[in-house]
Amino acid sequence: MKAILLAGGKGTRLRPLTVHTPKPIVPIFNRPFLHYQIDLLKQVPEIDEVILSLNYQPRRIEDVFGDGSELGITIRYVVEPSPLGTGGAIRYAGESLTDSVVVFNGDVLTQIDLAAVLQLHRERQAKATIVLTPVENPTAYGLVETDAAGNVRRFLEKPNEDEITCDTINAGIYVLEPETFDRIPRDTAWSIERSYFPSLIERGETFVAYTYRGYWIDIGTAAKYTQVHRDIMDGRYQAPPFVDGAPRVFTAPDVRIEGDAVVEGPAFLDEGVVVKSGARIGPYSVIGRQTQLEENCHVRGSILWANNRVGRDAVVEDAIIGRHCHVGRGSEIGAGTVLGDKSAVTDYSRM
Ligand code: GDD
Ligand code: MG
Repeated sequence: MKAILLAGGKGTRLRPLTVHTPKPIVPIFNRPFLHYQIDLLKQVPEIDEVILSLNYQPRRIEDVFGDGSELGITIRYVVEPSPLGTGGAIRYAGESLTDSVVVFNGDVLTQIDLAAVLQLHRERQAKATIVLTPVENPTAYGLVETDAAGNVRRFLEKPNEDEITCDTINAGIYVLEPETFDRIPRDTAWSIERSYFPSLIERGETFVAYTYRGYWIDIGTAAKYTQVHRDIMDGRYQAPPFVDGAPRVFTAPDVRIEGDAVVEGPAFLDEGVVVKSGARIGPYSVIGRQTQLEENCHVRGSILWANNRVGRDAVVEDAIIGRHCHVGRGSEIGAGTVLGDKSAVTDYSRM
């Protein structure tokens, strides 16, 4: 059985982080995001190949995952000549498929029991099965109404406030029958949410919902990207190194924390991090590889990628910083700031 991961979007809502790093490989702690999804797919032994459907910066993604052998699964890459949207991408990547296929939006993290979803799909002999999850505000998602028997009755992508009739949304996880793909036009940008799903309903085909109430998040905005790290540090989503019973401060073996520097957990300090004397790292900080925190600086609630330098007396609070940035001494980087790779912040700046 094959799985298609839709991982070709431009990640516009995560800019500037996605300017040089496509969303599927933005790091969650020290692992590229798709690692977590592939781990989930590996729980279903039937899935023997993962097809990565790509468009934006495909080489960078191929460089990270190669043929999949290091992850213990076969990975195949299908690169669209131009962005085909979620539906067009599925048609393009699924051209040769004949058996049921699992499809994942490449930016959702969840602990769903995929085997149970497949079982429902087979029991109901569905043409399509969709995972739904409840959220507080469905406007950023696809709203999905079902009937008492779990059949999908309505699919409304990005509803307006006055169109919200329920709290269940499309979780971006499907099991589909390739025989239905012929209704997706070839080589045309086409949305699975706006066209294919509504067409299944119109034709009265067996389109069923599996409602999941456990952990689910779409990492596609800076706020959600930060949230996912906090959820893992707090144990709401179990992932190494923050599994039950593990210390709340993770420091790679070669991290150097000088004399009176303080690290308050939960926190993650990756390989080669240096924390100079007097520096303070507050809760929910993630400090990427080879990053140097100079004397008396203060970092809290922030995610710093690899190879950064935070100058003396600087304060970085609730921010995200890409790679190879320099935060000048005495600077104050405030809540919500997102710095792209190679940003240089002049000494004593305020932002
Ligand atoms: N290959 C390819 N080509 N992939 C694409 C393309 C494309 O042209 N466009 C988007 N994708 C991928 C993105 O990389 C992402 O992994 C996935 O398709 C969904 O696109 P997003 O841009 O993240 O969509 P969204 O978050 O606004 O909405 C979607 O996800 C929600 C759940 O998180 C929809 O499926 C909603 O219905 C759903 O509720
Ligand atoms: Mg998304």
